[in-house]
Amino acid sequence: MSRGYRIRCENLSKSYMMGKKELPVLKEINIDLPAGVFVALTGASGAGKSTLLHLVGTIDRPTMGRVIHGDRDVSELSEYDLASFRNRHIGFVFQFHHLLPEFTALENVLMPSWIAGKSLMEEVGVIENRARELLDRVGLSGRLSHKPSELSGGEQQRVAIARALVMNPSILLADEPTGNLDTHTSFEVFDLLRTVNHEQGITLIMATHNEALAERADRIIIMEDGRISGG
Ligand SMILES: Nc1ncnc2c1ncn2[C@@H]1O[C@H](COP(=O)(O)OP(=O)(O)O)[C@@H](O)[C@H]1O
Ligand SMILES: [Mg+2]
Repeated sequence: MSRGYRIRCENLSKSYMMGKKELPVLKEINIDLPAGVFVALTGASGAGKSTLLHLVGTIDRPTMGRVIHGDRDVSELSEYDLASFRNRHIGFVFQFHHLLPEFTALENVLMPSWIAGKSLMEEVGVIENRARELLDRVGLSGRLSHKPSELSGGEQQRVAIARALVMNPSILLADEPTGNLDTHTSFEVFDLLRTVNHEQGITLIMATHNEALAERADRIIIMEDGRISGG
């Protein structure tokens, strides 16, 4: 089963205004990623990896250039349409899991569906079953009612991955998802991402500092000072 689609960036540039000065952060980036690929995005801190993920993920808009999801140029979408596009197609996993501390693992995984308003009575059961299934798949069926503080770092990141998958995304964007984990746990989390990518054909972009992990991806894109320098 293949759910992912092709992603293209065309002459993608992003600058921030710092006072009156323009700070270029991404400089005319061109990328063409086939559907279902697992890409590692590497490069020194400050190279622009997170900024690129935010643009691809439609959390932020480019200064120039385009991001094309499948056949759709997302720069043409309104804020409102972007939000629903994002919710339907894109899952995010961050370095710091951003789980809500007051909610259980199961509730955290369900959160995106609540935000999307999928709380109609007939859907509640379906989505809750799916959330349970996902937590089972990431090896946490015994931790459904644990709060984040009652979970290890690796377990928290697994919950974050289940949460990223609950809306059935086509694309998964992971920003240093193992940056906060020990070596062994990093490989476990990576293997989980790889399994998701393989089984469901989700197109996956993972920013990482970990070279051993990057080498296991299908393709490595190296960023240097806002440009693509390899891959
Ligand atoms: N909101 C912002 N305003 C101004 N500068 C920013 C902002 N976000 C990121 N930057 C700058 O853009 C550059 C790239 O940042 P980032 O994409 O976070 O790099 P990376 O993820 O590779 O470490 C850095 O120099 C950073 O300081
Ligand atoms: Mg970053």
